[in-house]
Amino acid sequence: MEAAPPAMPELADDTTSIPSSRGEGDQSHHPRTLIRAIVGAIDAHDKKRVVVGGWVRTGRRSSSLLAFLELNDGSCQQNLQAVVKGQVYGDLRRLTPTGTSVLLEGVLEKLDGAKHKQLIELQVERVIDVGEVDARVYPLPKTKHTLEGLRDIPHLRPRTDTIAAVARIRSELAFATHSFFRGEGFLHVHTPIISTSDCEGAGEMFQVTTLFSQADKVEKELKENGAAPSEADIEAAKLVVREKGDAIARLKAAKVAGKQEISAAVLELEKAKEIVSSLEAERLRLRPGIQRKDDGTISFENDFFKRPAYLTVSGQLQAETYACALGKVYTFGPTFRAEKSHTSRHLAEFWMVEPEMAFADLQYDMDCAERYVKHLCRWILDHCREDMEFMVNHHDRTAIERLELVSETPFERISYTKAIKILEDADKEFENKVEWGIDLASEHERYLTDVVFEKPVIVYDYPKEIKAFYMRLNDDQKTVAAMDVLVPKVGELIGGSQREERLDILKQRLIDGGLALGPYEWYLDLRRFATVKHSGFGMGFERMLLFATGLDNIRDIIPFPRCPGKADL
Ligand code: 4AD
Ligand code: MG
Repeated sequence: MEAAPPAMPELADDTTSIPSSRGEGDQSHHPRTLIRAIVGAIDAHDKKRVVVGGWVRTGRRSSSLLAFLELNDGSCQQNLQAVVKGQVYGDLRRLTPTGTSVLLEGVLEKLDGAKHKQLIELQVERVIDVGEVDARVYPLPKTKHTLEGLRDIPHLRPRTDTIAAVARIRSELAFATHSFFRGEGFLHVHTPIISTSDCEGAGEMFQVTTLFSQADKVEKELKENGAAPSEADIEAAKLVVREKGDAIARLKAAKVAGKQEISAAVLELEKAKEIVSSLEAERLRLRPGIQRKDDGTISFENDFFKRPAYLTVSGQLQAETYACALGKVYTFGPTFRAEKSHTSRHLAEFWMVEPEMAFADLQYDMDCAERYVKHLCRWILDHCREDMEFMVNHHDRTAIERLELVSETPFERISYTKAIKILEDADKEFENKVEWGIDLASEHERYLTDVVFEKPVIVYDYPKEIKAFYMRLNDDQKTVAAMDVLVPKVGELIGGSQREERLDILKQRLIDGGLALGPYEWYLDLRRFATVKHSGFGMGFERMLLFATGLDNIRDIIPFPRCPGKADL
């Protein structure tokens, strides 16, 4: 009998445990060494026996006796060269096509740096596993592919250098986010993805409903089982009930029927009544299409939540409930906006980091946002060097400089009114007219960050008309305590504000915004009971990555972009 497989060993950062073959009953495990660990400590790995798994980026055979595989395992940008001899693996042609997956065991050998580009290579002694690729039909050929073209093969594009680098930087940024807020004493809360409140009050929400699938089911059932009970069917059943009732009355009046006879008649009456109710229920259930109320609006009585529900546009309102109980919290989750923007900075599904702080004013909010962005920039510089150098060499020469600048320089802070003045005085024709009251367009934001200040700019105190209802009204009655953090290359990275904590003013702001008070009563309760000054902000996670990597399009920043007309996989 075979011995039980050993328990999963405690793994070092650079190893993963994997079975030696697939589905052949061999339960032994090889600790897989990551290429990142090998190229990061060449001397330590010289002459070491290792198992390496990855995908062949380029492969060539010098003859039927020798194959060279440039292997990438996703742990870093660098490849490891693996040398396979003909006597180790019979058909070397199966190993070399680009994309082939291999699991190899062998001994690492340090090379003479003067002669070789690669400083260490794997002399393969055993090919443990191979996942073959037919080069004639593989959609990711060795030749160069554009990022735009790659968007049509979202399931294979992580195998390319750029998308893999973005994935690694993204993962680091998520970790850095948690490390920052944890370090500042915040609690991480999970706010709901399905929400019944429109946080931004902008009506750009995706609806969550089962009404359509229910309507389809009904349609199918009607086709298969014929029509629903008609009004006439129900009338006929009601007639039977009346007749049964009359019969009982007659029996009782004649005073000749025994107890048993009357009980039997009552039982029949009950049955007839049941038939009426089930016919009525069936008729209601089998109404085709989407039901509407008398005023023409859709009836949500039969919907899953019995009320309209949506995918959240922001976790802020729910985060506020926790901030107003626990002090400092943050939420980090997917958010959804059904806006028909086809720009390079908008997604229909994106991730947002939203801290919310009790006893905090706008100043505190801006300070926190600035510290957070700086922390992220510093983190990427310290932990993603190789990938950032790749970005500099292939996509944006200034990417590292920009991160260094932002991590070190104090952000400029100007009021909206001052920003408008600067734009009005600018020696530049903008496509969108500049005047007090406008929402800043991307070109305006970029002018402030890229031309005037050449660093991040926090614009605060925006006109109340262009901002959400929850932002605190300033004493001038014209502006609200809002702030946007604008960064070079991207424009708006963060939107935040001090929240309106005064019940009457908040109510009025909802009314002025044309929003019904009903759905926001719980939000008003936070002001009704122990109101507290509080502030927060939301940072678009993909916008931060766009800024950091220097890529041009946000669709290459998120693994599976969702935009108007596109939701692959
Ligand atoms: O400015 P926004 O709309 O603010 C809010 O949602 C607030 N409730 C946040 C808060 O105070 N807790 O969005 C915040 C950020 C923007 O600054 C931008 O970076 C990003 O989210 N964002 C988008 N990112 C990608 N695609 C979109 N369609 C985005 N819309 C906003
Ligand atoms: Mg905004």
